Amino acid sequence: MPDKSQKCGSSSPDSYQDKFQNSTLKTNFVSFMLKSYLKYIQKRVNAHGIHSPFVFEFYNEVIKKWKLGRNSKVEDLRKILLKNNKKITIHDLGAGSRRSNDAERAIFELAKNAAVPEKYGSLMARIIEFYNIKTVLELGTSLGVGTGYLAMASAEVKVDTIEGCPETAKVALGNLTAQLGLENVNLEVGEFSEVLGKKGNKVYDLIYIDGNHQLKPTLEYFNFAINHTHDDSFIIFDDIHWSEEMEEAWKQIQSSEKINVSMDLFRFGIVCKRGVQRKEHFIIKF
Ligand SMILES: C[S@@+](CC[C@H](N)C(=O)[O-])C[C@H]1O[C@@H](n2cnc3c(N)ncnc32)[C@H](O)[C@@H]1O
Repeated sequence: MPDKSQKCGSSSPDSYQDKFQNSTLKTNFVSFMLKSYLKYIQKRVNAHGIHSPFVFEFYNEVIKKWKLGRNSKVEDLRKILLKNNKKITIHDLGAGSRRSNDAERAIFELAKNAAVPEKYGSLMARIIEFYNIKTVLELGTSLGVGTGYLAMASAEVKVDTIEGCPETAKVALGNLTAQLGLENVNLEVGEFSEVLGKKGNKVYDLIYIDGNHQLKPTLEYFNFAINHTHDDSFIIFDDIHWSEEMEEAWKQIQSSEKINVSMDLFRFGIVCKRGVQRKEHFIIKF
């Protein structure tokens, strides 16, 4: 498995080239992901394999219609960021931060490696639109691409987003305000657990967890999410098959008695409490 201490700023599985300082690590990582993907494609189902009315509707109205969540303004921003050679100092609070991981990184590298892909950003926007979601929390802003998808999904949604790296957060703020013109985003700079500790009783309709992909913190964020969501909320985990630790975290989350619906879309794991229905796990084609 890749050495987590090689991770840079993004805490994203897509930041492959950062982590792989030798080809053995890269080979191990690719073969791990490939095995996980093969398992996923053997087990994934489409509408015919889904008997739960809630998940059946989710499949037909959200998964199949993810393109309705597309956002050309966010994709234009991504294109601009992908051409930006300016370097910033990344302070990594994510996986592998036992020692200081401060490092210079070009903005285009972060855009390439850390930002949520268009298909998954659009899917989140479609969830917000279809279920009329009003309050969202994102753990891991990075440059604000995912935040853009969340905040532009509806006129009524309000997004709280947390980023631990001050320079990254500064760039994100510029992207979200000057570039996307958003006024419905509250960007908080700090370590996730510290910021979450000040949330009081706030309850969210959707929580998107996309940073610090280690077992213990991920389970802590899940516990926070359970205590700060209602029965119909969505909790989304990014990168559930990125490492053995993340697969273990996902296994524990999906088997938790605190949630009844879990959906594995390979990159995303989505869970809902839905006390009204019996506990079921779905591996769904996306
Ligand atoms: C994968 S990126 C987020 C990408 C973003 N959601 C998007 O789609 O554009 C993860 C971010 O989480 C931040 N992060 C990781 N661990 C953190 C922690 N413990 N506290 C605060 N921020 C953290 C990193 O600095 C990084 O910018």
